[in-house]
Amino acid sequence: MEYEEPKFFHVMEYAAAADGDVIDMVSGNPDWEPPSALREALREYADLPPDAFQYPPSAGLRELREAIAERRGVDVDRVVVTNGTGEANYLAMARAFERDAGDEALLMDPVYPYYPGKVQLLGGEPTLVPTTRDGGLDVSAVREAASEETALIALNTPNNPTGAIYDRDAIREVVAIADAVDALVLVDEVYDHFDLTGSFESALTLDSDRVIVTSGFSKSMAITGFRVGYALLPDEHVFKAKARHMLVNVAGPRPSQYAVHHALAETSPDYYAEARELLAERVDAFTDALDAAGAEYSRPEGAFYVLARFEGFPGTMANVKRLIDEAGVAGMPGDAFGTARGDWIRFALVTPRAVEAAERLADYFGDETPASR
Ligand SMILES: Cc1ncc(COP(=O)(O)O)c(C=O)c1O
Repeated sequence: MEYEEPKFFHVMEYAAAADGDVIDMVSGNPDWEPPSALREALREYADLPPDAFQYPPSAGLRELREAIAERRGVDVDRVVVTNGTGEANYLAMARAFERDAGDEALLMDPVYPYYPGKVQLLGGEPTLVPTTRDGGLDVSAVREAASEETALIALNTPNNPTGAIYDRDAIREVVAIADAVDALVLVDEVYDHFDLTGSFESALTLDSDRVIVTSGFSKSMAITGFRVGYALLPDEHVFKAKARHMLVNVAGPRPSQYAVHHALAETSPDYYAEARELLAERVDAFTDALDAAGAEYSRPEGAFYVLARFEGFPGTMANVKRLIDEAGVAGMPGDAFGTARGDWIRFALVTPRAVEAAERLADYFGDETPASR
């Protein structure tokens, strides 16, 4: 198997070793508080009897699966609690490939870098499919790329890195294409709570037996370290996904699942709304500064990333390092996300210093491009 270390590790190491003060806009770790009920549940957990320190059911704590099923409007039997959305994506991809329905995965370009890696890990072949200029689904490009070899079409909405929210009708058309070529559609909705425009509609509403929806609590509860996600599978795929989950992991972490279950029950919608408001403010401040820097950028409809392109300063690894050294801001090179945005740099807005970073970029790029200095 070929495996390339994700570029973000490299950028983070470079930024950590830099001489000056660097603002990290590389990682997708929320910088705000988890729900208070989650902290309370963890404190409580420390005093539970010894059986609470033993294996949970492999598919996840029953009460957590029930809460997820109720929220997402599906039967509890379809819910597998996983080690983050990352594992849920892996299970969905594995289901697609183990059906003898081809080896190809259609991935939208730009792409979340873990998708091609996982596809290859599972013996599949990733094919990048162009998206529209603003990152939306290009249904005709998907149709053109799809063939009998296609086993999987992977979508992510709201999208990392473009911030696009896919139109539900476009997803429906992609599902019809999948139906025609006997592929499964994975829809990764890990940023579902970060719908900044109110336009997000879950693919679950399509009620299709071709669709596996994945999500998790890493982002919505600001707990990337807890590793709680889930896959919602059509009935015919549940058993095999649960078996793979059990054979690979035995089970997921019980204290994390317990705490997430309590937080789900006790956290009001205000918690999620506040995080969205904070992000919306950061998007405004950051994009204002990008305007001042003369940059082109995509204004995210959801998730928490901004892609920007600076005239005469393509988003190569070398330029990303230069930005770390000369402007004190670390972003991700665009070519980490496929081929579509090689000239761009992705900035994650999950830092309290997002506004300061924006000012640094505005100062650095100012009226002239660095290349002309
Ligand atoms: C699109 C996408 N899917 C999945 C993940 C991983 O989520 P989790 O922490 O729930 O495994 C991320 C993390 O950045 C992501 O951006």
